[in-house]
Amino acid sequence: MTTEATHTDQRAGGTTHAGLQAWVDEVAAMTTPDHIEWVTGSDAEWTRLTDKLVEAGTFVRLNEEKKPNSFYAASDPTDVARVEDRTYICSVDEKDAGPTNNWMDPNEMKDLMRGLYAGCMKGRTMYVIPFVMGHVEAENPMFGVEITDSEYVVVSMRVMARCGVNVLRRIEELGENAKYVPALHSVGAPLEPGQKDVKWPCNPEKYIVQFPEERMIWSFGSGYGGNALLGKKCYSLRIASAMARDEGWLAEHMLILKLISPEQQVYYIAAAFPSACGKTNLAMLAPTIPGWKVETLGDDIAWMRFGKDGRLYAVNPEFGFFGVAPGTNEHTNPNAMKTINKGNSVFTNVALTDDRDIWWEGLENTPAHATSWKGLDWTPDSAELSSHANSRYCTPIEQCDILADEYYDPQGVPISAIFFGGRRKTTVPLVTESRDWTHGTFMGATLSSETTAAATGAVGVVRRDPMAMLPFIGYNAGDYFQHWINMGKDADASKLPKIFYVNWFRRDDDGGFLWPGFGENSRVLKWAIERIEGKAAAVETPIGHVPTPESLDTDGLDMSDADIAAALKVDPEEWKAEIPQIEEWFAKFGENLPTELQIELDGLKARLGLE
Ligand code: GTP
Ligand code: MN
Ligand code: MN
Repeated sequence: MTTEATHTDQRAGGTTHAGLQAWVDEVAAMTTPDHIEWVTGSDAEWTRLTDKLVEAGTFVRLNEEKKPNSFYAASDPTDVARVEDRTYICSVDEKDAGPTNNWMDPNEMKDLMRGLYAGCMKGRTMYVIPFVMGHVEAENPMFGVEITDSEYVVVSMRVMARCGVNVLRRIEELGENAKYVPALHSVGAPLEPGQKDVKWPCNPEKYIVQFPEERMIWSFGSGYGGNALLGKKCYSLRIASAMARDEGWLAEHMLILKLISPEQQVYYIAAAFPSACGKTNLAMLAPTIPGWKVETLGDDIAWMRFGKDGRLYAVNPEFGFFGVAPGTNEHTNPNAMKTINKGNSVFTNVALTDDRDIWWEGLENTPAHATSWKGLDWTPDSAELSSHANSRYCTPIEQCDILADEYYDPQGVPISAIFFGGRRKTTVPLVTESRDWTHGTFMGATLSSETTAAATGAVGVVRRDPMAMLPFIGYNAGDYFQHWINMGKDADASKLPKIFYVNWFRRDDDGGFLWPGFGENSRVLKWAIERIEGKAAAVETPIGHVPTPESLDTDGLDMSDADIAAALKVDPEEWKAEIPQIEEWFAKFGENLPTELQIELDGLKARLGLE
């Protein structure tokens, strides 16, 4: 059916793609918006929508001289992060959601959510956003269409994904052969006639739902990026990981960087760290060691497929950075600072300065007064932080000065090394090299990290976060481990990336970080590359190969020998204490735990002298 709104709205647009038009009509009939708009991606559209957001009070236009064409937003204080307890993998069979995801029967979930969606866009405009993750010229373009009733989402999606009329035309050209992920989003806040909108509409009841078999996403109640920009976590990780399992590739929570040695040798590295554990920082690393250079390809998501030459190639499907703001500054991430200072960005839940610029904890030039993300007066003496710990900047990737040219290659880049890492105060050394792919998969599968503010819930608790994908694996995590192992088995071992495990977050006895991190992490990248080249020495330990103190380039590093040794230390007692936690973690998977991983665990125990 076609709703009246389709006919009456000027920007109604529409499509010749019958299947897509039917879905849009069906959603409109259910959600009853006042208007329907098809997002074109034009500059005029950006201006109109950002003006509308300013008028609604959702956006504050920032100082044109400091942040041109940029905006500040403060969310509802209850809608600030991904809601993992409200996130579901609604596979047909419960066991396919595995032990790590919430599950509900898909039909039950649809009934429940249809109830929530009924009339939920009343008084609002429903936007239809055709988008593609990755390249529209890719062999199999990864299309999506997001329907949303949030202008904030439309504006942010335009930064984070390639959106608009070009994508729609390509979908139409491919006709009924075009596969796209239908992704439905509503803030869940209908407006009665005459009712004044709030700055940040949302609903206390939230659902972030993936239907992996149908390759479909339904999201309700939240406006926060990870819950509402459905091309990102929901599609490019949860749905894409299910696609990747079926089709023999990998969809991973990884940055991609290009490392250039003083001899002009080029290496590509992918790295998976849990949310707020340093991907965006490492992706834009400014090396402190002379002659080494880093360029960026991606800061959050990597899709990896084997190329015809047998190497593993990675592409970044995204078009922007959605980075953690606090802690970002000229020292920790100068390239991110340059990117956002060019403007065209959205800042959410940071502080607003009196001259309409933004500020957050850790940024230089602390203002004497600002307005906190909660809208309160803030001064350096305030007891509360000015910015939410998970406040974010949303900025176009093409503004990044060190974006590698290969970003534009739909084939992607051949990966030499994969890093796994997390936040651990103890136990895990600065860097460990795996013996082989299966051992590396074991490192990834047992990756642990202290929780951060990127998701709601307690902060600082050690949890297992396999491949930094715990909240993003769209199917049974045991099957996911098996998929990783199989990917390695099917490949030419000599061409597989080498897998390393890193920890920038080990603490000394006084609680300070042992390792200075950030630009200094280039020293670890260098060691990894030299290992691959067979040039660097290592000590064999029960957990893998760690650098000898001499093999790590520490020239000019302001660290005592004792601290370097402490950062690299493998303490068998600490690792023995780790084993019961790994066993408890593996026990969750029952029969779905790949035998290969059990063998790895048994080997580790034997090397630690446990029976
Ligand atoms: P998501 O975007 O949520 O997936 O997270 P991310 O992995 O991109 O995290 P990001 O790079 O934004 O890192 C966030 C936090 O990690 C900030 O508090 C940084 O200061 C801190 N961080 C990043 N790199 C380092 C490091 O090398 N050492 C230390 N000590 N902290 C770091
Ligand atoms: Mn992330
Ligand atoms: Mn990030």
